[in-house]
Amino acid sequence: MTYYSPSELSQRNGKLMQEIWIAYQGKIYDVSSSELFKEGKHYEHESGRDLTAEMIDAPHWDDVLNEFTVVGFLK
Ligand code: HEM
Repeated sequence: MTYYSPSELSQRNGKLMQEIWIAYQGKIYDVSSSELFKEGKHYEHESGRDLTAEMIDAPHWDDVLNEFTVVGFLK
């Protein structure tokens, strides 16, 4: 299993690196393929970060993450 630090995650924001990753409840998801995360942003939420605490503001629940690949875990 691969573990990434918050600073390694922060580079995967679609700008510093091409990949667009987000962390949620300890898992890191690759959302690069999503039209809704174009240029690393999802509404006011920036990728390359742990978005666990922000899910409460969303109009959806966390089942939206099910279709995305878990690429590792947050250190
Ligand atoms: C103000 C907060 C947010 C708004 C307004 C918002 C809005 C939306 C909308 C409208 C959709 C598409 C329809 C749907 O699936 O219900 C969506 C999908 C999604 N959202 Fe959010 N969202 C918010 C926060 C978040 C957060 C915090 C996360 C991650 C922890 C997240 C992850 C996702 C994912 C992974 C999808 C599916 C994308 C796809 O299928 O391409 N959202 N969101």
